[in-house]
Amino acid sequence: MNITVFGIGYVGLVTAVCLAEKGHRVYCVDINEQKINMLKNNKLYIYEKDLEYIFKKNKQNLYFSLLDNFNFSHSNIFFICIGTPEDEDGSVNLSDIDNIIKNIGQNSKSNSIIVIKSTVPIGTNKKIENYLKKYETNNLKFSVVSNPEFLSQGSALNDMLNGSRIIIGCEDEVVKNIMLEIYKDFNSPKIVMSRESAEMVKYASNNYLALKISYINEIANLCDITGANIDEVTNAMGYDERIGKSFLNAGLGYGGSCLPKDTKALKYISLSYGYELKTINATILVNEYQRTLLYNKAKKLFTNFKNVKVAVLGLTFKPETDDIREAISSYNIELLLTDGAIIQAYDPKGIDNFSKKYPSNKYSIKYYTNIEDTLKNTDICFIFTEWNQIKNITPEIFIENMANVVIFDGRNCYDKKQMNKYDIKYYSVGR
Ligand code: UGA
Repeated sequence: MNITVFGIGYVGLVTAVCLAEKGHRVYCVDINEQKINMLKNNKLYIYEKDLEYIFKKNKQNLYFSLLDNFNFSHSNIFFICIGTPEDEDGSVNLSDIDNIIKNIGQNSKSNSIIVIKSTVPIGTNKKIENYLKKYETNNLKFSVVSNPEFLSQGSALNDMLNGSRIIIGCEDEVVKNIMLEIYKDFNSPKIVMSRESAEMVKYASNNYLALKISYINEIANLCDITGANIDEVTNAMGYDERIGKSFLNAGLGYGGSCLPKDTKALKYISLSYGYELKTINATILVNEYQRTLLYNKAKKLFTNFKNVKVAVLGLTFKPETDDIREAISSYNIELLLTDGAIIQAYDPKGIDNFSKKYPSNKYSIKYYTNIEDTLKNTDICFIFTEWNQIKNITPEIFIENMANVVIFDGRNCYDKKQMNKYDIKYYSVGR
């Protein structure tokens, strides 16, 4: 089938590439000329595991165009993968989506299906369909389907090709069948429901994941006070199938472009209906507290970070991505820089993005692609992302390179008992 994907960010590019992998002809449309030119030249502007391989493999089924030059007669199925950032009050900003919907209304020449993949407040799909009615004629009808994405950065390709579920929010039988046809070769259960439910599934899922992380982080904090060990606790909890083993990793909390935004959005949405989501309020508060838990602990030890040489291992919000949005590292580095620390930072994929935000010529931060160089002569080390390269560091490497071996491990990367065998000051979360 011929499909157009609007918004070629993380979600849009992964969606387009996976649709092409399943044999569809996919038109990728964006307003960013640089992105479109790079893609035309076979270059990707994001790092995501396996993306480059599947992109190149399916290049013959992928077409790229700037929105202004796009010929809408190529297809009448439009996937919307435009970002829905948060406004200052936590509400969802839909202005970029509105713009593209208007374009579709003005330019479509035949009956069209608009598939909303972006995370949008409950009721948005219906509102979009109502808005498009003004462009309808006898021969032109618009149908809007909610099809939220469940891509997790670092495993996005697998999540799309073999996802846990494909949600189709659609009440129209013909449109439903077209959606099932698009996804017929995708190896995931397809669940059809109302558009409102589909929109809610997305928020409820992300908020539940955030809640699970904040809950386990609070239990970890309690472990610290009581002498229990969170690793032993979560391992045993995970045997209960009702709880499950995943998303129980205690640490400095969740970051990224989704969970922080979607928790605040659902809080805002519920309040706009006059209902207060108490669990989500607590989730957000715990995460804000957790982010700087180890910084605050370290501050008690050092009292002052002025001219203290600090090694930072891990800048991205999680491993296997170059994304630094809402990364826990940012919150801590901001505080350390304000305190006058001299930072040496390492990340396998995040340096390009992070150094744009904190360039070495403006801030007291140097970037390294080698872990030993990063640790060299430092007095304290913070770990913010559990990359394998970081998890594989042996205690000897810390000892050989650091001036004083004081480690604040925000992702519980190492076996605490093993670390305690050495003359190392080692702090982690909940152990
Ligand atoms: C999240 C959801 O997991 C996806 O299902 C969803 O589709 C996506 O948002 C989205 O809305 O697009 P993502 O933001 O890529 O995906 O990352 P997660 O794997 O959820 O991790 C989020 C944060 O939680 C990371 O900072 C991670 O380090 C942290 N985390 C995760 C923990 O602190 N503990 C855990 O046990 C798991």
